[in-house]
Amino acid sequence: MKKSHLKIAVIGGGSSYTPELVEGLIRYHEVFPVTELYLADIEQGAEKLRIIGELAQRMINASGKLITLYTTLDRREAIRDADFVATQIRVGMLDARSRDEKIPLSHQLIGQETTGAGGFAKALRTIPVILGICRDIEELAPNAFMINFTNPAGIITEAVSKYSKVKSVGLCNLPIGTKMQIAELYGVEQTRMFIEIVGINHLNWTTRVVLDGDDVTEDFMTRLGSIGQSSPANIPDLEWDAEFIHSVGALPCAYHRYYYMKEEMYGEMLEYYQATGKTRADDVKEVEAELFELYKQPELHEKPAQLEKRGGAYYSEAAVQLMKSIYNDTGDIQTVNVRNQGAIPCLPDDVSIEINCVIKSDGPHALGLVKPLPPQIRGLLQVVKSYEELTIEAAVKGDYASALQALTLHPLVGDERIAKAVLADILEQNADFLPQFQR
Ligand code: G6P
Repeated sequence: MKKSHLKIAVIGGGSSYTPELVEGLIRYHEVFPVTELYLADIEQGAEKLRIIGELAQRMINASGKLITLYTTLDRREAIRDADFVATQIRVGMLDARSRDEKIPLSHQLIGQETTGAGGFAKALRTIPVILGICRDIEELAPNAFMINFTNPAGIITEAVSKYSKVKSVGLCNLPIGTKMQIAELYGVEQTRMFIEIVGINHLNWTTRVVLDGDDVTEDFMTRLGSIGQSSPANIPDLEWDAEFIHSVGALPCAYHRYYYMKEEMYGEMLEYYQATGKTRADDVKEVEAELFELYKQPELHEKPAQLEKRGGAYYSEAAVQLMKSIYNDTGDIQTVNVRNQGAIPCLPDDVSIEINCVIKSDGPHALGLVKPLPPQIRGLLQVVKSYEELTIEAAVKGDYASALQALTLHPLVGDERIAKAVLADILEQNADFLPQFQR
């Protein structure tokens, strides 16, 4: 039977994104009755957690919803008996992200938070911490669903599914944004469309579009050049070449720019870094400082518009929709990160994929593909997925050989000597966060 009182734990509750989530929980309270909301963070995040907690409380008060809010530095207290555990942590905070972006640049490589050498470093730091959180969930809330936002979200979801018993789903805001853009292009409500998104996190393609039951994929393909041009706030908006994008035969996601326009994206990043001394992490620090000043204002009791300067737009929409559908056994379709189990036949069964799923009370069920993936998609997908598998092995076991192979294989590195040099810098500059490599 459905519970009438739900407990949610947010690990990394002091994140500047939390007001988004709180807004979503308030909006859908009638159909998703959260009565206890725990925001947990670590000692270094205590001040941010206090500010977020006070704002969240003002938002709840203004809404009149019966949600009791707790803030805590004890994540076990937050997790105990929770129905959903949302994870949105950043191991090493923004300083570590800044290093992740700068180390690759110093080797003439793209320096990005979630892909390439930067995303690799983030995965090495994050996986052991996430698996520690999983141990707590296994012990204190074994029936809970873990909703993971922590980046690199696909890799983290796969590590959780390979190395824990926790029921987990990985989430990203990109698919929901893509679906909104396509519905807007056709000038219809999204509920009238079925949009097939397939791939892995931050490397997905929109392969099929159905409107009112009619397959309009061919028409969609003719419009490819005119859409997909805008990207989230964190990715330079370089224009796609219409002929190229059409030849892919599917709409790439915003992150594909790093792969398909490698040189131009690198040039863009380098130029910005040389002119300002900053990368995206440094910009985010400034936006965060501004946001937290706003969050402190006692008269503020809603999510401020400035949050849109961050890349995670629609994040709360994705999170709350998913939890709401699991709770209500809705059976609607959402694009999430799950274990493959044959849904994409050219990838191993135990890896994570980002794909359309039917959301039921026992979690997401991946929809199979109507057509096999064409070689231009399959090739890149298999390479990057293999990189991800190796990265997880490296992070869990502290295995240097897997780390070196992972980086060498990644299309944004792709050279053994460069991989070795970047890896040396990553291991050295992250030594405090990588005990698995100190053995
Ligand atoms: C996109 C990605 C998220 C990522 C965010 C970064 O939306 O899908 O996974 O966290 O951008 O945005 P930021 O403002 O931190 O650069």
